[in-house]
Amino acid sequence: MLSLRAQTPLHCSIQYRMKTLVTESVEIASEIVRNGGIVAFPTETVYGLGAPFSDTEAIKKVFDAKRRPQDNPLIVHISTPEQIEQVASEITLSAATLIAEFFPGPLTIVLPKSGAVPELVTAGLETVAVRMPANEIAIALIEGSRTPLVAPSANVSGKPSPTTAAAVIEDLGGVIDCVLDGGQTRHGLESTVVDCTGETPVLLRSGSLSIEDLRTVCPDIKKLEPSSDLSRRSPGLRHRHYSPEAAVLAVNTPDPSPPPNTAFIGFMTAGEGYDFVVPVETKEEYAVRLFEFLRECDRRGIQLVHCEAVDEAGIGSAIMDRIRRAAAD
Ligand code: TXA
Ligand code: MG
Repeated sequence: MLSLRAQTPLHCSIQYRMKTLVTESVEIASEIVRNGGIVAFPTETVYGLGAPFSDTEAIKKVFDAKRRPQDNPLIVHISTPEQIEQVASEITLSAATLIAEFFPGPLTIVLPKSGAVPELVTAGLETVAVRMPANEIAIALIEGSRTPLVAPSANVSGKPSPTTAAAVIEDLGGVIDCVLDGGQTRHGLESTVVDCTGETPVLLRSGSLSIEDLRTVCPDIKKLEPSSDLSRRSPGLRHRHYSPEAAVLAVNTPDPSPPPNTAFIGFMTAGEGYDFVVPVETKEEYAVRLFEFLRECDRRGIQLVHCEAVDEAGIGSAIMDRIRRAAAD
């Protein structure tokens, strides 16, 4: 990011930041990537912040812009399944099965990494996370950039992931070079992460692809027990996540007389006492709207957030995971 420093007569420095370009043009956005800039772009899950997977200078800018801890590795996004060979040293049997069924889609697989992937991408791990997004703008950007792109979610670390270009600008405007605007994302929650390095695939992060769907082709897929080494194998779990400024509570029913400055999201009809209510009709709609709801709570200065608990079938598992992690803070 270019920035100009100016000295005031009092010798304190003021930073003038370059404006972040918002565009719908994949050509412009990919040219910015090819010239070393960092670009936020839509996927079917949430917006990502992209840089070429082998360009450590640009990747450092991604970590800096997000204020992301360097021990949290990044997902490499590809535009064809064949590109996996550039970043992984081996495609295991379970990975091949999942790729055949679910790429492109909201699934990230973890494989042994190839020598071409810098340590910065994998936070020193011997594995690399790869996914092929089911979003034609994302695919066109990767193709136009002429390389797979690393892309963490395009939010400041700890905040809810962005599902619109406006939410990206809210967190990263003036800090990144460009946002490729592709409207609201289709799923609203991040991809499901599965470790395919061992004999039995292991679910590391629940996400927009449900474990029931994964089990249709990989019936033996395991969830890690809380006592296991989950946080070593899935470093993202160690960090603060999905948190608005407000306190978050999962509730079974709306409160008939909530405290002042409280918001509600859920299926049930919430009473007059809430300051802000987002009603949803399906779990899919809940997933699409959850992160934007949490962000809107911050904009309105909400202090307490009530999220109606949902059953954990299908996308319900990822919804409850994000609510619990927001509530844990
Ligand atoms: O839907 C998504 O996955 C979005 C869009 C932009 O693709 N991306 C996203 O990236 O959510 P991020 O960086 O916010 O989350 C990546 C997750 C983190 O929990 C990280 O720890 C995990 O993937 N991860 C990355 N590389 C890994 C690896 N080698 N082993 C285990 N976990 C890994
Ligand atoms: Mg993230």
